[in-house]
Amino acid sequence: MLASADYTYQPKGGGIHPREAAEHHSRVSGRSLAEALREAGVGIEDVDAVAVALGPGMGPCLRIGATLARYLAVKYAKPLVPVNHAVAHVEIARFTTGFEDPLVVYIAGGNTIITTFVEGRYRVFGETLDIPLGNCLDTFAREVGLGFPGTPKVEELAMRGSKLLELPYVVKGQDLQFSGLLTKALRLVKEGERLEDVCYSLVETAYSMLVEVAERALALTGKREVTLTGGVARSRILCGKLEKMAELHGAVFKPVEPRYAGDNGAMIAYTGALAYASGVTIRVEESRIRPMWRLDQVDVPWRARSDPRKTLNSAADV
Ligand code: FE2
Repeated sequence: MLASADYTYQPKGGGIHPREAAEHHSRVSGRSLAEALREAGVGIEDVDAVAVALGPGMGPCLRIGATLARYLAVKYAKPLVPVNHAVAHVEIARFTTGFEDPLVVYIAGGNTIITTFVEGRYRVFGETLDIPLGNCLDTFAREVGLGFPGTPKVEELAMRGSKLLELPYVVKGQDLQFSGLLTKALRLVKEGERLEDVCYSLVETAYSMLVEVAERALALTGKREVTLTGGVARSRILCGKLEKMAELHGAVFKPVEPRYAGDNGAMIAYTGALAYASGVTIRVEESRIRPMWRLDQVDVPWRARSDPRKTLNSAADV
């Protein structure tokens, strides 16, 4: 039997190529579905509904998943449940940490968002204005020959660095920019600085920017829990920094369970189940993909009903 990791797209080098990734998804989707059903010990007829990630993400990849989901919904007469990929990263973090109402730091190759639940939705309390943090680290790693995914390798070298080099620290209000940081870090490598020191400076600067924004969001919202989700949630250095910051505010920190940190079907299925239980479905004809779908555009009725802290003021009072 294939482990689920065998279904994960691994770029041959040079980062994720949307068409190659889509071809991969189309090649493994049938086997992946069959194995998931076999492992769960159910047949397709036992399934209540089909959850589908409509966005955000790369169009060609989203289209493969959506096509299969629509096919299953029509062929087996099952309701189709739209899921926002970013909301799913948040929900799987809540599920695996057991947290009720955390501040969520969501860092991946495609996203950098600080969010928490306020008034019926996950609101954005800071995000990148240019490239995501995961993309910044992966691109740096690729350009200096460390391979993909780059974050663990950059961190490994960072732990052997000691000289803090000056890099652009760009926080605008609650938002972040990483492209200047990436350009300068690459230039320093070309100028002959030790790679370990550049990695150390890159990680220290980028993570400090992020923790600064997360800290303000925590102070504003008064939440008592902090979690980290997305592909970069496996980062030991970032976890350490967020844990310290949370402690300073009397909050508890716990990252998403590592095997659910990167993209996974379980988070889509789980969030789909929550949404379906709250009556969220979509007609097949309306289930177009939404590559730019923001998480703060999504109503979250499964929390709105149960969460007593519905306003920002009451959340801050807790
Ligand atoms: Fe993702």
